[in-house]
Amino acid sequence: MNRPLILRGGRIVDPSQDLDGVADVLVSDGRIEAVGQDIAGPDEAEVLDVSGQVVAPGLIDLHVHLREPGGEGKETIHTGSHAALAGGFTTVWAMPNTDPPIDDPAAVGYLRLAARVARGTQVMPIGAASIGQKGERMTEVGELVKAGAVAVSDDGAPVWDTGLMRRLLEYTQTFGIPVLQHAEDISLAGGVMNEGVVATALGLRGLPNAAESCIVARDIQLAELTGGHLHVCHVSARQSVEQLRLAKEKGLTVTSEVTPHHLILTDEMCRGYNTEAKVNPPLRTEADVEAVAQGLLDGVIDIIATDHAPHTYEEKEQEFDYAPFGINGLETAFGLSMRALVQTGRLTLSGLIDRMSCNPARIMGLEGGALRPGSPADIVVLDPDEKWTVDPTDFRSKSRNTPIAGWELVGRVHRTLVAGEVRFVRD
Ligand code: DOR
Repeated sequence: MNRPLILRGGRIVDPSQDLDGVADVLVSDGRIEAVGQDIAGPDEAEVLDVSGQVVAPGLIDLHVHLREPGGEGKETIHTGSHAALAGGFTTVWAMPNTDPPIDDPAAVGYLRLAARVARGTQVMPIGAASIGQKGERMTEVGELVKAGAVAVSDDGAPVWDTGLMRRLLEYTQTFGIPVLQHAEDISLAGGVMNEGVVATALGLRGLPNAAESCIVARDIQLAELTGGHLHVCHVSARQSVEQLRLAKEKGLTVTSEVTPHHLILTDEMCRGYNTEAKVNPPLRTEADVEAVAQGLLDGVIDIIATDHAPHTYEEKEQEFDYAPFGINGLETAFGLSMRALVQTGRLTLSGLIDRMSCNPARIMGLEGGALRPGSPADIVVLDPDEKWTVDPTDFRSKSRNTPIAGWELVGRVHRTLVAGEVRFVRD
């Protein structure tokens, strides 16, 4: 057991209890013991001076791709879970589109074991929704949950069959888990970037907004029919936000996420056939960026999630048509979200922590996302004013694929504590 720890003199930002002020935090036995002024603590306590820094509940990312098994050239559970720590994340949910996919209990067990050995961030496995992620037969959801799966998804691909999606939304209620949907109508898919003037100028095939919003609309109706928990991944299209707004107004059990890149980047980034900006759903237009940001500010979209999708240099070096979709996101998520929302004066730091920590915990019923006595001591210490330049060669991630290399961001993570243990310190 670690010695008790006092984080001394930081600015505590915990939106879950409307807290924003200077105080100390006492951690013992992996939990928060107290938050308050001039905490003395036991004699043996280690004291860490964090004055001038922000102390907040650890960030929670409900959407990452860690690539193990089968894609270890891009990322492993070890490298991915340490990249997460460097990004301030104390918990991540790992998508099952590995090779083979995480579609049986043994694979879920493997992921949990590998994560424990890695001693990085906490990794919670998402099970596949269909066997082999083929979209045909439902997995043994109960067995996956028993092995430790926290949700099901075919992300990377949609659950396109309407009947299967209905049964998933019905059946998962038995286990109290959500269905995470990659909303993409496969009969409208086949493009490589957003459908619009930039795609036309580049001569590339487009993916229209409706490829996403049609499935969002369909699934909301299925959530209404079944009462199941639908969580829409990486919302990118303004029409999807309209659908989600209606779902919230009706009080349905529908939640959703937006990525940092969809909050700030547009399809203009694809000019020059820049494969670093190739992602699915694609970067869209200013109007879409504005709509998803407004959706997040209004609470129509609940959270920010990275969709951390590492790919190797060689894969991204291919022609635009052949390069894989995906952006490496864990280590830039906080700074990029700060730039999109806080530096533009649209959201406070506390509002951002809410959407990157408290809300993910709340919508999925997780422990964490709070600095209350009794909560797990999952904590991030960060400097919200520190300027830094994105240098992918510094990433803990095994891959370096990002369209924002060289960008100057403001806001940087300095320490990440998981269950009271300092697992990441920036030198
Ligand atoms: O851009 C993406 N990359 N979107 C996805 O849905 C899957 C992901 C991946 O696995 O690379």
